[in-house]
Amino acid sequence: MIKKIISIDDLSLKEINKIADDAIKFSLNKKKIKKSKVKNIFNLFLEPSTRTTVSFELAAKKLGHNIININFDKSSLSKGETFNDTIATLVSMKPDALIIRDQKEFSPKEIYNNYKIPIINAGDGKNEHPTQSLLDYALLKKKFGNKKITIGICGDIKHSRVAHSNIKLFTKLKYNIELIAPDYFLDKKDLLRINKNISYSNSLDNIRNLDVIMMLRIQKERINKNLKSSVSKFKSQYCLNLNHLKSSPYLMHPGPVNRNIEISDQVLDTYHKSLILDQVNMGVYVRMACLEYLF
Ligand code: NCD
Repeated sequence: MIKKIISIDDLSLKEINKIADDAIKFSLNKKKIKKSKVKNIFNLFLEPSTRTTVSFELAAKKLGHNIININFDKSSLSKGETFNDTIATLVSMKPDALIIRDQKEFSPKEIYNNYKIPIINAGDGKNEHPTQSLLDYALLKKKFGNKKITIGICGDIKHSRVAHSNIKLFTKLKYNIELIAPDYFLDKKDLLRINKNISYSNSLDNIRNLDVIMMLRIQKERINKNLKSSVSKFKSQYCLNLNHLKSSPYLMHPGPVNRNIEISDQVLDTYHKSLILDQVNMGVYVRMACLEYLF
């Protein structure tokens, strides 16, 4: 079977743990890089990105592969070529794998169904972002081992592909999940299909039992005009400050952070249990492990 990482659903618990364990070993310098055949990887990013695109590039290079970066402005999409014609053009050059980020949900799945090439979803609209979840898990596994931790996820859960992949992954791992968000940033019906045991709260004032709190950015690019006024409402109620962190949970955020909207400057600049840059660091090792899984 041609391998893919399009959704967390594509991976068994065993495969997820293998990727996390390999990433942890890479991060500790305890795993040798296999000298395999050099692969040609296309890194197609049709939405803005700093950490994801760079970490895929660095991961591929560390493994000795060729990686070719393509973004909207540099591609013929900006000259009016259709998405399907651009993909057909790229696939005809026979890449060994395609990494794709697209604003449209399910486009990685459509490409896989049409062309059967190894593919990694680097974020499809608000649907999923599986390698972000895998890196979050690898870091948590490095910190907590196999403990069934309690993790709070707070922010714009409804429009967040990171939240969707993480809720799937943390459900598989039997973590306790607590979602903290106003109603306009939650789609409970959608989430109930994944996990009936999630607990919900609409305040950050009671986060005493959490091992980890993960904050999320408001996905302004994915929300309609009516919801845009909710940004200031959200900020006044949910911007994480030091008072919320008295019980000292670890702090995570996939980045990019919008300072003083979901996390205050003070927390970002002084909180001693922030893992935000550790997440970025682990991102490279997880993507190395994902590429090894693919090949
Ligand atoms: C996230 C994304 O693009 O989904 N960023 C990332 O890949 N680390 C989160 C976000 O944009 O808010």
